[in-house]
Amino acid sequence: MNRRNFIKSSLLVAMTSTLPRVILAATPSAGFDYELIVAPADVNIVSGGSTPALCFNGGYPAPVIRAKQHQPVRIRVINKLNEPTTIHWHGMRIPIAMDGVPFLSQPPIMPGETFDYEFTPPDAGSFWYHPHMNSVEQLGKGLVGALIVDEAEKPDFDEDLVLCMKNWHIKDDGSFTALTTPQNAFRMGTPGRVMTINGQIHPTYEVPASGAIRVRFLNVDNTLLYQVNSTDPQAQILAIDGNPIAQPIALTEHAVGPGMRLDLGVIAPSKVGETVTFKHKGKPMVTIKAVASQFKDRSLPKLPLNPIPAPDLDNAETIKFAFEWNANITPIEKDGEVSYNFWTMNRRSWEGMSKGHIPDPLATLERGKTYIFELSNLTQYHHPIHIHGHTFTVLSSNKKAITPFHTDTVLLGQNETVLAALVADNPGRWMYHCHIIEHLKTGFMSFVEVT
Ligand code: C2O
Ligand code: CU
Repeated sequence: MNRRNFIKSSLLVAMTSTLPRVILAATPSAGFDYELIVAPADVNIVSGGSTPALCFNGGYPAPVIRAKQHQPVRIRVINKLNEPTTIHWHGMRIPIAMDGVPFLSQPPIMPGETFDYEFTPPDAGSFWYHPHMNSVEQLGKGLVGALIVDEAEKPDFDEDLVLCMKNWHIKDDGSFTALTTPQNAFRMGTPGRVMTINGQIHPTYEVPASGAIRVRFLNVDNTLLYQVNSTDPQAQILAIDGNPIAQPIALTEHAVGPGMRLDLGVIAPSKVGETVTFKHKGKPMVTIKAVASQFKDRSLPKLPLNPIPAPDLDNAETIKFAFEWNANITPIEKDGEVSYNFWTMNRRSWEGMSKGHIPDPLATLERGKTYIFELSNLTQYHHPIHIHGHTFTVLSSNKKAITPFHTDTVLLGQNETVLAALVADNPGRWMYHCHIIEHLKTGFMSFVEVT
């Protein structure tokens, strides 16, 4: 496509992407709820100039996909990049064929090709989607979007805000800075400079005064751990990583690592014009501001728990996983290139995969059996450890008291060991990796097989 046609078609896409869902659903492919066109597009994040991003449907933020618990959703993905991609539905317990991992679950979607995803979400909550190829660049340049699964019986909130947190690796003129540097890949990862919520720097959202507001934070960043806190001492944690917690707790500060989510409930201020601000440590991220409404005496609705299978701890098998680094390796080679086997899981680094080569699984799990993963972080950095197709029940930690909760991404603090159980009920080969994208690219990636 020449540049002019490209601009024309990306404008068209940008226009359609702002229309409501019913229009999107009605675009060319009948029978699909969503169509995602993956292509380069210029977006405006900073005022100094546009950013040559990679986008879903020509803009950022990406369309919010809204599915319904226990109901199938059909999503057509059209790859207009000049490289292969796949789309993974983070946190979904769905069949392996729809998991979106190249070679392991499907062939890569080549440039110009289309792939149709269809799945029925068993769990309701805040999830997200992203490619599982060339991740530092594809995710880092904007291919990240929210996937919200509405409860079969929708709780009665007066407003539902979906907030994607991402620090863009850009300069004041909008151009990209390095998405990764060797020095950072072997530490905490390379942070982006410009903190955004849904692509905006400290936006304000209007909410109905005294209304019951659901505030969903999704960490779609490659690198950063956000410490979310609020100016409203009454803010409640309702769900962690998509899964409601049995008893809501007051938010003091909650660590949301890459890939993780946090659903809060707040009652909006009763006075018009009053605000609540959510911050990352001391830095304001997003503000909500009360506008006139009829609401009064509202309380936060209770979220139904997700049907995560209960682990059978009496008959569980424990498997140890050590997260370390390879002391024999100089992470940066003499030619300045990054070494891809610095981080190790049980002394193994990810050797990569291709059509003709799939490595052995890191562990083989028997279908239907409960396993306790003993996750030991032997490094001085934190790591959000993510598993596909299953949801962990986090049991305990050697560093802090834990009220058991469900998650697909376990945040391991430095030198922390966590016990996390799962029922291996979903057959397939499931990715198992750190969600700091530079870490997965430099060793912290593997898969487990449920047979
Ligand atoms: Cu969001 Cu393999 O991960
Ligand atoms: Cu990591």
